[in-house]
Amino acid sequence: MMLEIRNLHARLSDGREILKGIDLKVDAGEVHAIMGPNGSGKSTLALTVMGHPRYKVTRGEITYGGRDVIKMAVDERARAGLFLAFQYPAAIPGVSVANFLRTAINARRAEPGVTAGTAAEARKNDMPIPQFVKLLAEKMKLLEIDDSYKSRSVNDGFSGGEKKRLETLQMHMFGPSLALMDETDSGLDIDALKIVAHAIEALRGPEVGILLITHYERILRFVQPDFVHVLIDGRVVRTGGRELAAELEAKGYEFVREELYAGRA
Ligand SMILES: Nc1ncnc2c1ncn2[C@@H]1O[C@H](COP(=O)(O)OP(=O)(O)OP(=O)(O)O)[C@@H](O)[C@H]1O
Ligand SMILES: [Mg+2]
Repeated sequence: MMLEIRNLHARLSDGREILKGIDLKVDAGEVHAIMGPNGSGKSTLALTVMGHPRYKVTRGEITYGGRDVIKMAVDERARAGLFLAFQYPAAIPGVSVANFLRTAINARRAEPGVTAGTAAEARKNDMPIPQFVKLLAEKMKLLEIDDSYKSRSVNDGFSGGEKKRLETLQMHMFGPSLALMDETDSGLDIDALKIVAHAIEALRGPEVGILLITHYERILRFVQPDFVHVLIDGRVVRTGGRELAAELEAKGYEFVREELYAGRA
């Protein structure tokens, strides 16, 4: 399954264009990193792929496995295998982590648009509870999350790093075929970074595409990307291998900008 983004333009409701012609392909089995200065449009790109209503696509295409993603509702995108780990995960007071995960997993398994019928019919695709409990225990162990988190409200009072770890847990529970991770490594302590990196590596495989948005080269030492892209001012201005991340870390974004302007002159 390949994600293909062609000449993507997206704007905010106030008319401001944030994405100005993004071209990007992420194939199954590949890990891509996106780096770029604050405000360059990285989160906007991830949210637009996922279908956040705040961003309006005005030009270009997004396809996934040949399907037109722009035409798909958010829940259809999730069912197609797309997943986004948010840069700023929202708290859901009153909903426990376990309940949230079970509801979300079953919503993805349900037949789309089925609202009629008996409760039993609506629930026929649900993951059996023992299977869910086993899966959750396995994934919590992988992410070294304390058992007490199951009964806590989602992200309510979680520290920054705990929220990122919960995003990674969600990702593993859902088993996406394309995972977009928006700064999941930000705010993690040294040990947590290694745990999350290990979890990303555990998801990696021939069937799964991964797009990591990050500010830090550090995570890319643990999760080796196949490609590194630099996003500046709503465009992918440069693509390279892992060495590009190290070069950015050493030189900052100025050298990419200089090359850009030299190229345009
Ligand atoms: N809801 C919004 N209201 C106003 N401006 C917005 C909104 N969403 C995005 N923007 C603007 O769009 C631009 C791109 O934002 P985006 O969050 O995509 O950047 P980013 O590359 O993810 O930055 P960071 O590295 O800081 O996370 C910024 O100028 C931002 O202020
Ligand atoms: Mg962002």
